[in-house]
Amino acid sequence: MRPMMVIASVLFCCASTARGDEVLERIQTSRDHAEVLSQLLPIIHCSFTPSKYERILMTQLRNVNSSTQQFRAAAERIGDLLVSKVVDCLSTRSVEIATPVSSCVGEVFVSAVELVSIIRSGDALLDTFMKHFPDANISKILIQRDEKTAEPHFKYMNASPTLSHGNPVIITEPMIATGGTLEMAISLLKEMGVQEKNIIVASVCVAPEGLLRLCNKFPDIKVVMNVLDDQLNERKYIVPGLGDFGDRYFGTAK
Ligand code: URA
Repeated sequence: MRPMMVIASVLFCCASTARGDEVLERIQTSRDHAEVLSQLLPIIHCSFTPSKYERILMTQLRNVNSSTQQFRAAAERIGDLLVSKVVDCLSTRSVEIATPVSSCVGEVFVSAVELVSIIRSGDALLDTFMKHFPDANISKILIQRDEKTAEPHFKYMNASPTLSHGNPVIITEPMIATGGTLEMAISLLKEMGVQEKNIIVASVCVAPEGLLRLCNKFPDIKVVMNVLDDQLNERKYIVPGLGDFGDRYFGTAK
């Protein structure tokens, strides 16, 4: 991170900590009140209540006894449901079409989308998103989280040449824990000319702490998720969560 960006983040964090704790507590105690939650976290652009199928798939993902194969299958299925929630945020227009029996008014996307995967766990969702957006250009960002401090470290980026052309930019990131990795990724995208209002973060399981951080820093982004979990533990894992998404999806859990 550039020195000016680091100073700005530190000042921002200090100024917002007291209010942040208070808001976090309100988020955690308002879990059953969608209206209150959407006022506290206006960046969320989907339902706070998971569907029955999302609850079933989350059970398979959370279960420590699910095999790699079961975990992958559940991740791909819940990814399909996540795509559907993202599509609700995309602009469409009406078109008149002919069916084999009649004519009717249908709906098509207004523009192409850009996909950005945060390696490695973002790649687990990427295949599902590519299936639904086959002509999207794909950018990759590698930011590694220090296992001890949970601090993000930038390693590599390969950006699509059309990234800042004004189309929706969908970031695939299955878990939002502290939000540190995403904060760095979104800052990089903004430095490349991507506007906050065009950014949609697609995530399976998120912690209120990470959402609040993103909401304070980037009030114009959109976040779409399958489930909002309770909190982070002392090791910055999401609770109840599902463990390390990348390790469980790629079969590298120790
Ligand atoms: N990343 C994960 O994969 N799981 C967590 O609980 C937090 C971050």
